[in-house]
Amino acid sequence: MMSSAKTRIPVAGPSITEREVALVAEAARTAWYANHNAFNARFERAVADYVGVRFAVAVPHATAALHLALAAGGVGPGDEVIVPDVTWIASVAPVAYVGALPVLVDILPDTWCIDPAAVEAAITPKTRAIIGVDLYGSMCDWPALQKIADRHNLLLIEDSAEALGSSIDGKMAGSFGNAAAFSFHGSKTVVTGEGGMLVTDDETLFKRVQFLRDHGRQPGDRLFLNHEIAFKYRMSAVQAALGAAQMERIHDLIAMKRQIFAWYAGELSHTNGVTLNAEPPGVVNSYWMVTAVADPGLGLDKFAMMAAFDKRNIDSRPFFSPLSSLPAFDGRDSSKRHVRPHNAGHRIAAHGVNLPSGYNMTKELVGTVCGALREILAEAPGPQDDGVAERATAAQPS
Ligand SMILES: Cc1ncc(COP(=O)(O)O)c(C=O)c1O
Repeated sequence: MMSSAKTRIPVAGPSITEREVALVAEAARTAWYANHNAFNARFERAVADYVGVRFAVAVPHATAALHLALAAGGVGPGDEVIVPDVTWIASVAPVAYVGALPVLVDILPDTWCIDPAAVEAAITPKTRAIIGVDLYGSMCDWPALQKIADRHNLLLIEDSAEALGSSIDGKMAGSFGNAAAFSFHGSKTVVTGEGGMLVTDDETLFKRVQFLRDHGRQPGDRLFLNHEIAFKYRMSAVQAALGAAQMERIHDLIAMKRQIFAWYAGELSHTNGVTLNAEPPGVVNSYWMVTAVADPGLGLDKFAMMAAFDKRNIDSRPFFSPLSSLPAFDGRDSSKRHVRPHNAGHRIAAHGVNLPSGYNMTKELVGTVCGALREILAEAPGPQDDGVAERATAAQPS
């Protein structure tokens, strides 16, 4: 008999308690006029303190945070920005928004994050910035990226949209770059529905961000005097109240995410042919999305895996497809000039799916998903003609 879920298992979902509901209601009642910024300030302070940086700015989404980081960093037309080939397009689209050229490079096979050696190889006199992405909660090799950025005098931007709560040697995701972005989209570890945060330790950059995100006027300006044509990127007080309540529970939320991963890792510890998210020594992975990559030799395509889960009443998501393989990058050859055929990213992305990782997951539901995954692996067609024989060498679950 097929291992199916009785009720459909969603791929993601938040943890909302009466505390969130109460603070949102309070914001709806009180956060107006002179008090309009109270919940934003509270949410920003909570995130800055948690990450261990001086400044935080709440914005409508992480895409806006990345856009502001680039704009405030002075990145513009004629500049190149090095980015990973395998990520959500939101990591890269803001590079185009400021008129610069995204230069895609490969990811590492174990952490699924940008390869520092590939970054180094892609640097030209036009390079102005590097954007690293902490994929699915994994951590980039930030110490290596910091050294490269320092040596070449480049802006280092951390896309930690998916990694709130991860760390390297106790230093939190979001504290490594000149600026970092978090997302609070409804699927994320901390949610505000839609929402994001830019964090930085750099006061000059922080001030420039505050100016740029409010149509080119100084904070507190009551004369409506605009000095530049800029952007409107503010978060509403009601959303900020939701975020502030979530941040009161951040340690519990991260513990729940790690528990969900531990259930999966335990269930799959004797299952061959599949690799989960890595957690190298010194790293704490907040495991935003538990991700399973099937050995390429099994010939299991990620979309076929999703269809097989769907048949069993289980939602999943595909590993992000390499940007260089997407129609959005057709004809953008200068962006793709460093992407090698059959590279690690292409192999991993072809055979990976995100498994249900929402806060509704229980040990029993994880058992159901793992039962389904084992069936899907057992039904694998085996090596395909197109099949890249090379195996992904991602680390085994710890
Ligand atoms: C890696 C990454 N970067 C950026 C973003 C953009 O976040 P938002 O949807 O809040 O703009 C996301 C969101 O899904 C993401 O996963």
